[in-house]
Amino acid sequence: MTMKHIKFKTDRFNTHSRKYDSIHLNRYPKDTIPLWVADMDIEVDERILNGLHEYLDEKILGYNLETPEYTQAITNYLKRRHDCMVDPSWILTTPNVVSSINACLLALTQPNDAILILEPVYMPFFKSVEATGRQVVFSSLVHHPSGYEMNFEDIEHKIQEFNVKMVIFCSPHNPVGRVWRENELKRFVEIMNQNNVMIISDEIHMDFIFKGHKHIPLINFDEHVIMLMSASKTFNLASAHVSQIIVKSSSIRKKIMNLYHQLGLFHSVELGIRATTIAYQECDDYIDELCDVIETNVNLVKQCFENSCVSVVKMEGTYLMWLDVRACGIATPRLHRGLIKEAQVWLHDGSIFGPTGEGYLRLNCATSPHLLLEACERIKTWIKEHAHESKSSV
Ligand SMILES: Cc1ncc(COP(=O)(O)O)c(C=O)c1O
Repeated sequence: MTMKHIKFKTDRFNTHSRKYDSIHLNRYPKDTIPLWVADMDIEVDERILNGLHEYLDEKILGYNLETPEYTQAITNYLKRRHDCMVDPSWILTTPNVVSSINACLLALTQPNDAILILEPVYMPFFKSVEATGRQVVFSSLVHHPSGYEMNFEDIEHKIQEFNVKMVIFCSPHNPVGRVWRENELKRFVEIMNQNNVMIISDEIHMDFIFKGHKHIPLINFDEHVIMLMSASKTFNLASAHVSQIIVKSSSIRKKIMNLYHQLGLFHSVELGIRATTIAYQECDDYIDELCDVIETNVNLVKQCFENSCVSVVKMEGTYLMWLDVRACGIATPRLHRGLIKEAQVWLHDGSIFGPTGEGYLRLNCATSPHLLLEACERIKTWIKEHAHESKSSV
């Protein structure tokens, strides 16, 4: 594959990288390959870097204004790439998606309110519910041989049993890799509306969509949906600290804004504003190339684990692979620890994503094919040597 925009970068030790430099901090073996946190080993697009260099050349990092170009870049991108029509006035800029989740919980629900979470899922969804003094109500996604599905009967049942007020939804879904279909999204929205459940839809992974699939923003079905987004995953900009909450209702927008203002958070990070503007104005070709690269990497991992006890769950989007290791006969804590300490590959233990994540591992495949293959070979070899160890050896 000829690559014009994607450049891998794996020499990241001693760069203050959480992904890499935590290896030393945790005293893991120094050659550990980190495939855990959702941070890509891919350089920021050159057009964005040039824009940021120009910003630094202005030599002042003073208080900023969010420009019309910034909000217009977001609305144009949503329309162009996702057939999604939102008005620039619906955009609230926040530092990151997790703070947006917490702000929605605090501003729009009451202490002890029941909040529905479809697990396994990105763990801050339920950690935020707990941290803000609300009640987590889990509905488990169901793992069929063909992939994961929502259990609509269970969802309806839980909403009614616990008087659920809000749902935090992940689309596409981290970690099970689903790009939800139109009929699933419609049914989901219908159930929430019938039961007056407010929907927070985290769509941060919406650019990572594989061939044959299409991401449909939930707000396209119902303008009351509160959408969370950020260029930070697609363009590897997490520390630029800019994300968005899209809210049509001005009264809901005001409640969320008041919450940020109570914390004294009035200003966005100009570095992130400029990066987001350029990313959404100029870099569609980077997104297309990135999706090809990720899909190629997914296929490499699948090939590597063919005929092994590691089963790669069908993936339709994101760059976070969900590996079913239940057939290996090694308890997940032992497997997870052994992979780090002995095989020197750092993955996430699936159980941190919710009760049904036990028996799974999450692998971030957004790295160079060379490093990825090395990691998969190490995993395969270690598992072969330890398969069907007694589960009691945890
Ligand atoms: C679904 C999802 N939401 C939010 C985040 C984090 O976003 P932020 O860094 O903006 O808080 C992640 C990061 O992996 C994620 O996977």
